[in-house]
Amino acid sequence: MQNILVTGGAGFIGSNFVRHILRAGADLRVVTLDALTYAGSLENLKDLPHPEKHAFVQGDICDRTLVENTLDQHKIDTIVHFAAESHVDRSILGPGPFVQTNLVGTFTLLESARLVWGESGGFDGRRFHHVSTDEVFGSLGPGDPAFREVTPYDPRSPYSASKAGSDHLVRAYFHTYALPVTLTNCSNNYGPYQFPEKLIPLMILNAIRGAPLPVYGDGLQVRDWLYVEDHCEAIHLVLEKGRPGETYNIGGGNQPVNIEIVRLVCAILDELHPQGTPHERLITHVPDRPGHDRRYAMDITKIQAELGWSPRHTLGSGLRTTVEWYLSRPEWVTVIAQQSGYNEWLEKNYGKRGGGM
Ligand code: NAD
Ligand code: DAU
Repeated sequence: MQNILVTGGAGFIGSNFVRHILRAGADLRVVTLDALTYAGSLENLKDLPHPEKHAFVQGDICDRTLVENTLDQHKIDTIVHFAAESHVDRSILGPGPFVQTNLVGTFTLLESARLVWGESGGFDGRRFHHVSTDEVFGSLGPGDPAFREVTPYDPRSPYSASKAGSDHLVRAYFHTYALPVTLTNCSNNYGPYQFPEKLIPLMILNAIRGAPLPVYGDGLQVRDWLYVEDHCEAIHLVLEKGRPGETYNIGGGNQPVNIEIVRLVCAILDELHPQGTPHERLITHVPDRPGHDRRYAMDITKIQAELGWSPRHTLGSGLRTTVEWYLSRPEWVTVIAQQSGYNEWLEKNYGKRGGGM
């Protein structure tokens, strides 16, 4: 029996992963540890497959006693660490929580695993998997090659700097203490349950209510989009077959400019949720994000060659499924907005930018 601790499992990717792993494995139990910040919600963990195999613990990954007790009581042998402050714009407006959760929280988990596992049978059969981002590698120019696992770190926002620091800590625990870690650095995810502060769900929900679609700057920035289920499959494979101490890059091979993503969302909505005039009329250019990274792209040769992973979803199919999901879940949207103070966030981030949000 495998006992898996998923930190941040009430958030976007974490909750998709909890679903994925409960569906996939007969012989496992999952414990979600989540502080339920604005980004986490029990709404994301409703209707799980095999709910009898899942337990929820509300708490902060910085709380050492709680983390140690959870590892001990649930006999955890595998940690999949998603919990983080994850939004770049929030890190610009208030970096403190990013340093606390992403650095101190990751450190607390590492120390707890080292101690609890060290005192209960050693590290054999144990795994600490750290979920990280392509943003640690910095920003690419138009002709630069895609990020590889060996690309030097060059983070440029408080968010990516705190994730970079957490990656270094995780690797330090492998080299210094032989803690069996693996890391994945992934590009931009999209799909069901994504908090609507991120580009794609924000655009879908604004378009549905006829509000402006705020494109930062010229909208020609490039991200490497990946459907969330593909990310979950990649992490699962790394848990099963990845080599301790190794890092694997994950990406979708989809690199349209932002404005094109917004236009694609509009076109899908024109078909599924027509409102008389094309949704594209709502596109509004607003002042840019400070320090905005221009382009990300992931070289996924290593995970393809070593583990046989490739994304299964195309951008077209993934976006359509995502738009359909948000259109079919108005109750989820309402509850999430109420729980998280969403309107205050819109005012805080977009109020000064103008554009009539
Ligand atoms: P999210 O913001 O949707 O969810 C984060 C979750 O962590 C929430 O449930 C929140 O309540 C929880 N959390 C935050 N602080 C906590 C704390 N101190 N203690 C316990 N729980 C806490 O994030 P996401 O988009 O699902 O991202 C998950 C992970 O994947 C993050 O580590 C992020 O850096 C990484 N990542 C995200 C993307 C992406 O495109 N979203 C891409 C690559 C990597
Ligand atoms: O690359 C992986 C990262 O992707 C993850 O590590 C982060 O957790 C995740 O938030 C995401 O970061 P981005 O900053 O790339 O994602 P976001 O959805 O915030 O923005 C995507 C692009 O769209 C970016 O170039 C900024 C732009 N954008 C975003 C918002 C919210 C807009 O033009 N307008 C907007 O309103």
